[in-house]
Amino acid sequence: MKFFIDTANLAQIKEAHDLGILDGVTTNPSLMAKEGVKGNDAIMNHYKTICELVDGGDVSAEVFSTTYNEMIEEGKKLAAIHKNIVVKVPMIKDGVKAIKWFTDNGIKTNCTLIFSAGQAILAAKAGATYISPFIGRIDDSGWDGVQLIEEIAQIYAVQGFKSEILAASIRTPNHIVKCAAAGADVCTSPLDSILGLLKHPLTDIGLAKFVEDAKKM
Ligand code: E4P
Repeated sequence: MKFFIDTANLAQIKEAHDLGILDGVTTNPSLMAKEGVKGNDAIMNHYKTICELVDGGDVSAEVFSTTYNEMIEEGKKLAAIHKNIVVKVPMIKDGVKAIKWFTDNGIKTNCTLIFSAGQAILAAKAGATYISPFIGRIDDSGWDGVQLIEEIAQIYAVQGFKSEILAASIRTPNHIVKCAAAGADVCTSPLDSILGLLKHPLTDIGLAKFVEDAKKM
């Protein structure tokens, strides 16, 4: 399973990259706004900086528009920033049409806001490179996000769909573990969930003892 970081924060992207386990980045308009990135030039420059930081990994940049023609124009400009840009498109009717156009024109896509297996099938039919089920938001609404990953993984395996399942809206380290077991191809997580995978109290207790005993030698 590939590890993406779900942020537009440059320091956090650098920290995850320095750990040596980072395969890519996902952003969305909310994450970009959180970093105070404003204006077209600043947005384009921010994506370029992220692409250079992750050094070869895919970087999802989301279109802000919601109509077919506008999404195509916006997506072409985003894709021109860097060869690793993946155009992120919402799961709406015009979005599916736009994904098909991007696929036919050699531009990688990430279909975002996936909340059902039916949506995942449509996005795969349109040729999306990645599809993003939002598992944390599904859990928040009282359903089971990881179960959706399992269902999509089973359908894609049976049908031979090529889109990669990118588990998004990760809330905890355990979400990452469950998504890996459920068949996600990629997990995009906040830095604290990635770093949370490091933690176990018995590791801390064991290391303290080893360090103490090492002083006796
Ligand atoms: C990623 O592609 C999504 O935009 C993101 O994971 C959404 O996460 P949230 O539900 O924590 O906002």
